[in-house]
Amino acid sequence: MAGNKKYTVRKAGVSDVPVISEIVNHHARTGIMLPRPISRIYDNVRDYVVIESNGDIAGCGALHVMWSDLAEIRAVALMEEYIGKRLGRPVVEALLKEAESLGIEKVFVLTYKGDFFRHLGFKDVEKSELPHKIWADCINCVHFPNCDEIALMYSFK
Ligand SMILES: CC(C)(COP(=O)(O)OP(=O)(O)OC[C@H]1O[C@@H](n2cnc3c(N)ncnc32)[C@H](O)[C@@H]1OP(=O)(O)O)[C@@H](O)C(=O)NCCC(=O)NCCS
Repeated sequence: MAGNKKYTVRKAGVSDVPVISEIVNHHARTGIMLPRPISRIYDNVRDYVVIESNGDIAGCGALHVMWSDLAEIRAVALMEEYIGKRLGRPVVEALLKEAESLGIEKVFVLTYKGDFFRHLGFKDVEKSELPHKIWADCINCVHFPNCDEIALMYSFK
């Protein structure tokens, strides 16, 4: 898609929240993502970006600051019809750029899509290396307490 850009990544607005909820909760029903009540998406709307392709919202992603040096990438997901069309990369790259501009040193992700994130420069880490604070959301997960997501980290240094 380089040189022939047909997408835009932008910060989400409140009017994007219903479609973000639809995308994320569609994938959550298949068990590959955490379900997110729409109220939580409104709470955290400033974390989200959306990617538009030909005027449609094709996907989303979020960056949640955890601590002075650490943020989490969450809810990276595309509409089914846009998967595999190289729109995942610009979503993650936009979130990393935002993290860097905030002065964050490291960004982690918990995911079943390890190869996708490794391909984008993330490295595997032990989940035990992540701060306890991050497990607060797990109670909402269908896989709790037998989490088999893997943790990966991107470092700017
Ligand atoms: C994860 C997801 C966003 C990735 O988007 P995508 O459109 O499939 O990926 P892209 O086409 O943008 O791929 C970006 C790069 O990663 C590579 N890649 C994608 N999936 C890969 C995989 N499983 N293994 C290795 N490389 C992969 C692509 O080849 C591409 O490489 P390039 O840019 O160097 O050519 C998408 O598959 C999705 O929405 N999945 C469902 C929701 C989900 O599982 N989200 C992750 C939870 S955090």
